[in-house]
Amino acid sequence: MHPLESQIEAAVNFLSPFNVDKARVGIVLGTGLGQLVQHIVVSKTISYYEIPHFSLSTVESHKGQLIFGKIGETPVIAMQGRFHYYEGYSMQQITFPIRVMKALGVEKLLLSNAAGGMRPAFKKGDMVLLDDHINLQPENPLRGLNSTVFGVRFPDMSMPYDEELGKLLKAAAHKVGYFLRTGVYVAVPGPNLETRAEYRFLRMIGGDMVGMSTVPEVIVANQIKLPCAAVSVITDECDPDNLHAVSIEEIIEVAGNTDRKLSEIFVEVVKQL
Ligand code: HPA
Repeated sequence: MHPLESQIEAAVNFLSPFNVDKARVGIVLGTGLGQLVQHIVVSKTISYYEIPHFSLSTVESHKGQLIFGKIGETPVIAMQGRFHYYEGYSMQQITFPIRVMKALGVEKLLLSNAAGGMRPAFKKGDMVLLDDHINLQPENPLRGLNSTVFGVRFPDMSMPYDEELGKLLKAAAHKVGYFLRTGVYVAVPGPNLETRAEYRFLRMIGGDMVGMSTVPEVIVANQIKLPCAAVSVITDECDPDNLHAVSIEEIIEVAGNTDRKLSEIFVEVVKQL
């Protein structure tokens, strides 16, 4: 038995008595993006530290709790705060909640993140649907012993983001009056932001936006055949020829200003799932 299997079982056994195993949609909320929780009719909130084998969110802007409840008629699990590689966690730890959500019965996964915009047309506050990604993080959540219980050894990544979910997100954005752009996300380890030369390089290799999360979760979601979609909120404009210093406070503020719009879009989609 793969060690992860017993860990997932322990987490599921802990969570099941709270009657949370009906959740159909999993949601991972990124930096500064927590307002969606206000749209959830909450049945239970559980801090990560209570759950076996969950890590602790060490980032101040991430609360570190699982929220169970409903959006419309759809039962959901929302992660208010995620784990990042730069916090020192292994990729297995970062992606553990995704495996637990799947084991609890989640059928679709929505993720959000804050990202730097590298495509010149992307402006602060824009929302961008991930169409594809480039993984520049140094570790992989699937490295090591594999169990066929989870999926294949070499998961296909020709279409990492579910097309149907993407279409629903675009239509939902349109319906609630916003425009969802499309782009390629580059995942970097962080925690420092990039140099001008690095932004230039990331743009050159095909990146439209850059951030420090999401891709590990998406890799695991693909392995376990959990259809997923992700949206970036552009928090800073990364033009290497005109780069301004940016602080995490500004990033959180811009994300916070867009949070309401992104929440409306997610709510609209979740209701249809
Ligand atoms: N780089 C990396 N991660 C980020 C950025 C950025 O410019 N903005 C928000 N997250």
